Amino acid sequence: KGLYVGIDLGGTKIAGALVDKDGSILRRIRLETRVEQGPQAVIDRLVETIVKLTDGVRSSVKGVGVAVPGPLDSRSGVVFSPPNLPGWVNVPLRQALEDRLGIPVKLENDANAAAWGEYWFGAGQRQGTMIYLTVSTGVGSGLVLDGQLYRGENTFAGEIGHTIVDPEGPPCGCGRQGCLESLVSGTAIAKFGQTTDPSSLIHSLTAEDGEVVRAEHVFEAYRMGDAHAEIIVRQTARYLAIGLSNVIHIFNPGKIVVGGGVSRAVDVLFPLLQEQLDSYLMAPFRGTCEVESAALGEDAGVLGAAALWTD
Ligand code: BGC
Ligand code: NA
Ligand code: ZN
Repeated sequence: KGLYVGIDLGGTKIAGALVDKDGSILRRIRLETRVEQGPQAVIDRLVETIVKLTDGVRSSVKGVGVAVPGPLDSRSGVVFSPPNLPGWVNVPLRQALEDRLGIPVKLENDANAAAWGEYWFGAGQRQGTMIYLTVSTGVGSGLVLDGQLYRGENTFAGEIGHTIVDPEGPPCGCGRQGCLESLVSGTAIAKFGQTTDPSSLIHSLTAEDGEVVRAEHVFEAYRMGDAHAEIIVRQTARYLAIGLSNVIHIFNPGKIVVGGGVSRAVDVLFPLLQEQLDSYLMAPFRGTCEVESAALGEDAGVLGAAALWTD
């Protein structure tokens, strides 16, 4: 019986799962990434996680898939210098893992893996052209075009988070400015929340939690009718609508699936997004693309990473 390991390596958390061919999760592990300790320590922790997940079933494990924030080269297995994995520069992650584990490893961009997971086991329903958009610390996408995961000439395709939607916009973690990520990511929303008027409910909600402002505080203040939060949330929805309209004009997808931490605020964001989207679309495109929230939640990445072995 074929088993697979799917790993989702993020800037703050590592999620790992032992998965069968049908996408059932048999075992799971979650731990902190502790990215500040540098790539070598993280690789050690990945190896440990995979050893634990495969304990006693090692001979049935056909492969390991690892989802990582990009940009990365999924053919050579090298991670370049992802804005959201600080300190990682040209890390040959696939080779390092294969050497230590003796199991074949595939590396994939995190959003591509999640797209593949949603396509096979979630909202994608295994048909047509589906774009997955993740809005969390970073903003990324996975392009499933006519049923195939599209990677492009150098396997870098789908970096929607770093498409520029406002040339005069805020600085981005990639070193440029006005990228979609610098305007709609969880990090960006939190930053706008921090710098807004101190009389905003955002600040009292944050103080109650004894914390720094997070995107959740902004959404919560919006739900309570706060005017400052409304400005931030409307701006977020507007730039998201612009980003999605660009994708719709280029790929004509039947479905866009939105995942990532920020998508948990669907109740707030989706109505505003729907309201604005049409105004950014050429007439023939209106109503051609369903925008849905992800079905697999945090499991999309591990399932998709494992499913890299079944395609
Ligand atoms: C990276 C993408 C990644 C996304 C989500 C972006 O900053 O450039 O490769 O998919 O964050 O983690
Ligand atoms: Na991608
Ligand atoms: Zn950028």
